Amino acid sequence: MQAISPNDLDAAVQPARVHRKLYSDPEIFKLEMERIFGHAWLYVGHESQVRNPGDYFLTQVGRKAMVVTRDETGTLRVLHNQCAHRGAMVVASDCGHAKEFQCVYHGWTYHLDGRLKAVPLNHGYPQDFDTKSPRTAMTQVPRVESYRGFIFMSQAAEGKSLKEHLGYMATSIDDMVDRAPDGEIEAAGGVFRHVYNGNWKLYLENLCDAAHPWFTHRSSIDAAQQQSDEVYSDGTGEIAIRQMRQNGAPYSFWENQVGIWTYPNGHSYLGDYHDDSKLVAAMQDPVFRDYIAALEAKKGKDEVKRILEVRRWNSNIYPNLSFMSSFQQLRVIHPLAVNRTLVCTYNFRLKGAPEQMFRNTIAFANIVNGTGSLVLTDDLEIYNRIGIGLASDGADWIEIGRGYLSDVRDEHGGLKGKNSTSEVYIRNMFEAWRGYMLGETAAANEMKASA
Ligand code: FES
Ligand SMILES: [Fe+2]
Repeated sequence: MQAISPNDLDAAVQPARVHRKLYSDPEIFKLEMERIFGHAWLYVGHESQVRNPGDYFLTQVGRKAMVVTRDETGTLRVLHNQCAHRGAMVVASDCGHAKEFQCVYHGWTYHLDGRLKAVPLNHGYPQDFDTKSPRTAMTQVPRVESYRGFIFMSQAAEGKSLKEHLGYMATSIDDMVDRAPDGEIEAAGGVFRHVYNGNWKLYLENLCDAAHPWFTHRSSIDAAQQQSDEVYSDGTGEIAIRQMRQNGAPYSFWENQVGIWTYPNGHSYLGDYHDDSKLVAAMQDPVFRDYIAALEAKKGKDEVKRILEVRRWNSNIYPNLSFMSSFQQLRVIHPLAVNRTLVCTYNFRLKGAPEQMFRNTIAFANIVNGTGSLVLTDDLEIYNRIGIGLASDGADWIEIGRGYLSDVRDEHGGLKGKNSTSEVYIRNMFEAWRGYMLGETAAANEMKASA
């Protein structure tokens, strides 16, 4: 196999199109895992999942198994889940509480920060066997930082800070947390997992794609439009039906009343789409009214007005996170192979909000994003079709040029589509992609800032 040169990579991303091999070439996928997932800040979980020293949960970065722990001193750690003896996975439970981690093969035992704690038959090892050496520890990921409870890690020992990486997109995380009357959220209700036969980039692309619902989600739009208003009265089903109906809004709505915003490092959000005023508030939902009362009691009317005027649907933090701040739902993208991707979806409880709000969040996730949902399954079918289509060896180029040159600069240093159907968010992700793959991130950001 021929090595991929920087020139190949450079030529594969053009201003308004990209080469299809970026979605289908296993060698490029390998490079992405090394240069993007091996360097970028990646979301790994939420602090509510490791509230106390000794708490841990498992995650993965691409195919690498990882353990996220809070050690005895309260510090967050991310460890490679690999025994330093002969390589077995050490921690097997998805989550839990432990004083130490013990490998069940030969009993090597580790502290919560990965340092070796005990080795059976220690006398049998050579004289230079050093139990204090990093070589006999579970390897730690060098950088772990959290922003308002959201934990990120980077496998690069140096580079921009998490705050620099998030930039203005930190305001989407703020929106998720600010909506909690007690100022805190917690991951709850388990996790949905689904795997599709397509490239990881397709998932992030789809979540800000305002041009696809009319076609892709046609069956649920039709069903929702035929549904009589008399039939549904419990809030959760009604919210989902409203969303399905709104997916069928005419292009004039998408083009004029929805917005797509992008920011440096590949981030973006789709705004003004299904906000509170179009869904829960529009239904005169009594639970939502109680929630507003709880929020106002803690934060005051002015702050609540400010919070509810933040109208974001999906926020994407490149390269592995997407969340819906107003519906407390979050998805983590785990690339497994060039044409295989795992997505894990989590829901969050707003502390201090009526419990029914959380039940609505779960019900909404079930209907719209569950693995058997009427909406998500359409998107999964599309990812699979893209996988099959690209493998047919047809046209070499993929067009991502809609809205090109009509994008406008926003006051926070990003680019905004003139209307929401611009493919600016895909071009923006490929700009970040180039930065990681060709080592141009810093230069690209400087150019953006000075443009
Ligand atoms: S492989 Fe873990 S103790 Fe031997
Ligand atoms: Fe969709």
